[in-house]
Amino acid sequence: MSIIRFSGKPHFRLFVHPDQTVVARADGRFVMRNLVGDWKTPYRTDTEWHCRLMDALQGGASFAGIRDAIRPLLDEEQTTQALEQINDLFVGEVVVVKLAPQGSGPLVALAPHGVAYTPQFAPVADAEKLALSRFAMLRREGGRVLLETALKPYHLLSETPEADALLGRFLRGVRVSEVLSQWPAPAREPLRDLLALLKHDGILLAADQASPGRRDEGAALAQWDVHDLWMHGASRLGYTQMGYGEFGGVFPNIGRSEPEPAVRPAWDGETTELARPDMEKLYAEDRPFAAVQDERRTLRTYDEQHPISAEQLGHFLYRSCRILFRKQVPVVSSRSDTPGKAVLDLAWRPYPCGGAGYELETYLSVDRCAGLDSGFYHYDAARHCLVKLRERNAEMDRALRIAFMATGLQARPQVVLHIAARFRRVTWKYRAVAYSGILRNTGVLYQTFYLVATAMGIAPCGLGAGDIELFRKMTGLDPVVEGSVGDFGLGSLPADYRAQSRETWFT
Ligand SMILES: Cc1cc2nc3c(=O)[nH]c(=O)nc-3n(C[C@H](O)[C@H](O)[C@H](O)COP(=O)(O)O)c2cc1C
Repeated sequence: MSIIRFSGKPHFRLFVHPDQTVVARADGRFVMRNLVGDWKTPYRTDTEWHCRLMDALQGGASFAGIRDAIRPLLDEEQTTQALEQINDLFVGEVVVVKLAPQGSGPLVALAPHGVAYTPQFAPVADAEKLALSRFAMLRREGGRVLLETALKPYHLLSETPEADALLGRFLRGVRVSEVLSQWPAPAREPLRDLLALLKHDGILLAADQASPGRRDEGAALAQWDVHDLWMHGASRLGYTQMGYGEFGGVFPNIGRSEPEPAVRPAWDGETTELARPDMEKLYAEDRPFAAVQDERRTLRTYDEQHPISAEQLGHFLYRSCRILFRKQVPVVSSRSDTPGKAVLDLAWRPYPCGGAGYELETYLSVDRCAGLDSGFYHYDAARHCLVKLRERNAEMDRALRIAFMATGLQARPQVVLHIAARFRRVTWKYRAVAYSGILRNTGVLYQTFYLVATAMGIAPCGLGAGDIELFRKMTGLDPVVEGSVGDFGLGSLPADYRAQSRETWFT
């Protein structure tokens, strides 16, 4: 099954993808040229039917039109095979399918996301009222109107202002007959096909189902928040519309902006040197990894008589997130829109990090810590010191309260670590996966914090709630440049920690 399903519908026509150019090369191949380079097609310039196929695609042709063009040159079976190969061109994001009713130019393009797709059509009645699913997004991109949805392997691009208006009507919900009657008669059935396709794919729903009540979305979909499903779909291959090597570490900003330095410029402020552990001694004497891993657990009570100490904090930060070494690495972008070279500045830390971007910074709201004043600090990982950014104030108190609430009012961490990301370290290099990658790296850091705390005999607690706006107020940082992405509670180990049941948090 494939887009060959469009073959009985002459108003769905195949065109070369707008981001591709077909080049006939002297070596006897047709080549598709796009942002990231050339892709040699299996089509040869010395084969008549290949030439006809390429000609047909350039100007846009229905399956029937292509069949008519190539049939005189091939037998029945070869013709069928040739048409099936067009599916590979669609999956390869080389052709798009456009809805182009007779007598009119294309209205809407259906652009693939690099995976097989079989169009299917649900019946659409005149009296039916349809509206966009809450997971469909209608937005402007590159001066065109784009309709995409979280979990479908294609997006739609409107080709005319009339088609923009048509798609816009479904934001509020509209009766099918009302929409179709505004189009000339030859366009109505083709447009009904488009609605039928969108209805089948859950992009258009019966208007009552598309309401925020979520009643009829189905149990699984109803539980998803829009932003979560979007991020899921947009950050994995298959449903993201990033094609042509746009996905992943493609360095889209080479030549457009300079990469951020690996080491965050130091904050101004009073510094406190931190203790460093004797690593050689730890190599020989630290608790065995098997015991650390086995005994790692979340603890939500502390020894309040003996709060965590500045020395412990120093050792903890040193072991989990100090800078180990710095290195410059040359990188090259082969994309035609951002060709060029750059030098990546990298600074390794003890935990793994996607692309070695090491975008994460640690800030500390220190409530109770022996040997360290309460206040708000930044951990300067290069110098292994704390820089005091603020005296304790109402905002920091609120940050501590949010941590307390995150533990279900069970623990008031003595120190809350706020993990912030310097987003441009990642967005400069990656497309589609930048933010999901940052959250992955944050999870890696959580586990590193957990293991180091366990090895050291400190009480760790991952925290799932933090406040971006509060962090902005506490730091004065622009939240799209450097913003909080995670939080972690620490405190001194209570004497009876072994007796505490892991299940208490849920009771
Ligand atoms: C990403 C992440 C977020 C967490 N968020 C919270 C939280 O907000 N509050 C809390 O009390 N515990 C939180 N935890 C701790 C988990 O509840 C705990 O890891 C889980 O119950 C398993 O128990 P264990 O860590 O003792 O093995 C979090 C843990 C992780 C990894």
